[in-house]
Amino acid sequence: MKGARILVCDDEMLIRLWLVEHLREAGHAAEGVADGSELLARLEREPVDLVLLDVRLPDGSGVELLPRMHALDPGLPVIMMTAYGEIGTAVAAVRAGAEHFLEKPIRLEELQLLIEQSLERRALHRELEQYRDGHRWQFADVALVGRSYAMRKVAEFVARMGGRAGGPNVLIRGESGTGKDVVARAMHARGPRHAHPFIKVNCTALPEHLVESELFGHEAGAFTDAREAKKGLLELAHGGTAFLDEIGDMPRAAQAKLLGFLETHSLRRVGGVRDIEVDTHVIAATNRNLEAAVAQGDFREDLFYRLNVFPLELPPLRDRPEDIAPLALHFVDMLCRELRLPPRHFSSDALVALEQYEWPGNARQLKNVLERILFLEDASLITPASLPPEVRPSAAAGAGRIFVLPPAGVSLDALERELICQALDRMDGNKTGAARLLGLSRDTLRYRLEKHGLGAGRPRPEEADEGAGAAPLPGAAN
Ligand SMILES: Nc1ncnc2c1ncn2[C@@H]1O[C@H](COP(=O)(O)OP(=O)(O)O)[C@@H](O)[C@H]1O
Ligand SMILES: [Mg+2]
Repeated sequence: MKGARILVCDDEMLIRLWLVEHLREAGHAAEGVADGSELLARLEREPVDLVLLDVRLPDGSGVELLPRMHALDPGLPVIMMTAYGEIGTAVAAVRAGAEHFLEKPIRLEELQLLIEQSLERRALHRELEQYRDGHRWQFADVALVGRSYAMRKVAEFVARMGGRAGGPNVLIRGESGTGKDVVARAMHARGPRHAHPFIKVNCTALPEHLVESELFGHEAGAFTDAREAKKGLLELAHGGTAFLDEIGDMPRAAQAKLLGFLETHSLRRVGGVRDIEVDTHVIAATNRNLEAAVAQGDFREDLFYRLNVFPLELPPLRDRPEDIAPLALHFVDMLCRELRLPPRHFSSDALVALEQYEWPGNARQLKNVLERILFLEDASLITPASLPPEVRPSAAAGAGRIFVLPPAGVSLDALERELICQALDRMDGNKTGAARLLGLSRDTLRYRLEKHGLGAGRPRPEEADEGAGAAPLPGAAN
């Protein structure tokens, strides 16, 4: 590792110059300072990667400087230089946070080695911090999009449950692609456990003979391949959340162990003899009908009840069509930023087409369809022509039809009543006009008005005779 910024602090000028020169030859940006106050002033001005510090300085002990240096830069590696025989000081220095100590006279190879080690550790530390930051960012982006009643309820649930440190187990149910993952992540990210691990386990993807050791860990020698002891995923998630996806596919033996864990908050590794306390919040998810699995004997009833204390049902997208447009806008916005593409917009008929499609693959399918469009097309406007054939309204479904059945269906009776009311409203209550708008004869309209209990509705002055005696509306005129 070259090019590190290194400060050498020693009041003996010859040693200082010698070290600085050597470090510069080794490719580092080295500088010398002669006492503690100069060192601190220098550190306050600009951070460095490493400090070589003499224990005996004219203005005090180097050991006493350590806390002040680390107040300025907590991760700063410091290598102390002590005179021969000062082992007591060296121990104090390491206790006070020095990375290493070197006895004078200094041997350059040894110094070189310690510098390499310290810089590497520092780089690793930085990487870890960046990873954690990245992790935090990844979760900061967990947006729960949707304006349907169902999604607002889900968001409320997430806010409530995510806020509990020792929260009860949660079971998220819903078809594939309805957002079970994103809800689990949101619960973790918005709760008090967010600084701890979130570990997702896909119970379907784990080979059956490995499920137990993956989840609960194993001791050395527990089975042929278990040369070393290993922590399981539940243990690794300590303090945080384990998301057990497709829990319906968990083998029965593991189900029994999981139930024990949920009840005692402690687990025993495979081949182990002691119970280990583990504070991991479990969120499970399934797209299977667990009641049926219980009835068939595939899923333990006791585990089902244990998990099902707080069930959270994510309805399929076709049952909440009002979420389709907000999700589409969210996905396109997100994908454009991720793929560094210029922003795109939807024509209103494209959004209508998306809203009228069934989305058997739910939000995931919607996201995939949009991603494909972004890749295949450059135009900034997404129109119905951009949509894949299965989503695109066919000529018959669109232009040819005067009304397209909404995904959730409609009550024909209520629709008829609604259209009659609208026609009367538009014609200011004039039945002749309303009948014309609806393609009916006046007699047929009158019959239907009676059928819907609208017989006495809003007669016009010249029609008062038909209006079951109701008074004309004041100020109404044709
Ligand atoms: N309500 C939502 N808000 C934002 N993104 C969502 C929402 N529902 C689903 N998604 C996104 O759709 C995709 C599929 O959702 P996912 O959570 O993986 O579904 P599941 O786990 O139920 O199969 C993911 O990219 C997810 O981020
Ligand atoms: Mg999932």
